[in-house]
Amino acid sequence: MEVVVKESYEEMSKLSAELIAEVIRRKPRAVLGLATGSTPLGTYKELIRLHKQEGLDFSRVITFNLDEYVGLVHGHPQSYHYFMSENLFKHINVNPKNVHVPDGTAKDIPGFCRWYEEQIVKTGGLDLQLLGIGSNGHIAFNEPGSSLGSRTRIKTLDDKTRQDNARFFKNMNEVPKYAITMGIGTIMDARQLILLANGAGKADAILKTCEGPITAIVPATIVQLHPKATIIIDKQAATKLTREYPAEPRVLVLA
Ligand code: GLP
Repeated sequence: MEVVVKESYEEMSKLSAELIAEVIRRKPRAVLGLATGSTPLGTYKELIRLHKQEGLDFSRVITFNLDEYVGLVHGHPQSYHYFMSENLFKHINVNPKNVHVPDGTAKDIPGFCRWYEEQIVKTGGLDLQLLGIGSNGHIAFNEPGSSLGSRTRIKTLDDKTRQDNARFFKNMNEVPKYAITMGIGTIMDARQLILLANGAGKADAILKTCEGPITAIVPATIVQLHPKATIIIDKQAATKLTREYPAEPRVLVLA
């Protein structure tokens, strides 16, 4: 695991987009695991710029999103389907057939989750998984206490997560109570991980993730076990770290 501390959100986003772009340049049919939330927005903006100005080609790229709220239709402005379409997919040349976002409206949720896992395996597995982190240390919607070996499944959201995400909804009652999420085991099977965090609100979770013991109570700590994980954070998210970390990764491409 490598921790890289950047001066700003913009620099964090640029580096993360560059690492993703490098994976696509090396393997045009790359299988990317994508994340939602405010954190990866800058990365997506930069990927869109790389596509439009430097011809980064997504035509063969395959994507799998981490998670989706249960019960929100795909066109709901707070659904992750809508988020991904608005903030990335409609601006690049990805083939809609290659895009996968968990279906929060599935009638048979366990069946859907099994199918989702099978699709990831069928495409050859995730080459790179992009992650944000919740203020309670969750990754995707794997809340504190989630099995570190879990697979894609339905999860009840923590009160803290619902409060954090309430800003996007009219009121707390509208915030969904459940989500479909890739499991921690699913995420750990990706060949490379990038975990992003910015802002002081993530400093505690980042301290535990980078320097704390591995525990299901802070699901993000599992990335310490991944052989090719890069944690890219801004200065504010780094304020509680006790060790010095570089501003550049050792190698741009984790071959
Ligand atoms: C949600 C998502 C996570 C994301 C987290 C943090 O809970 N399921 O994947 O990492 O929010 O969101 P933000 O980036 O807005 O802080």
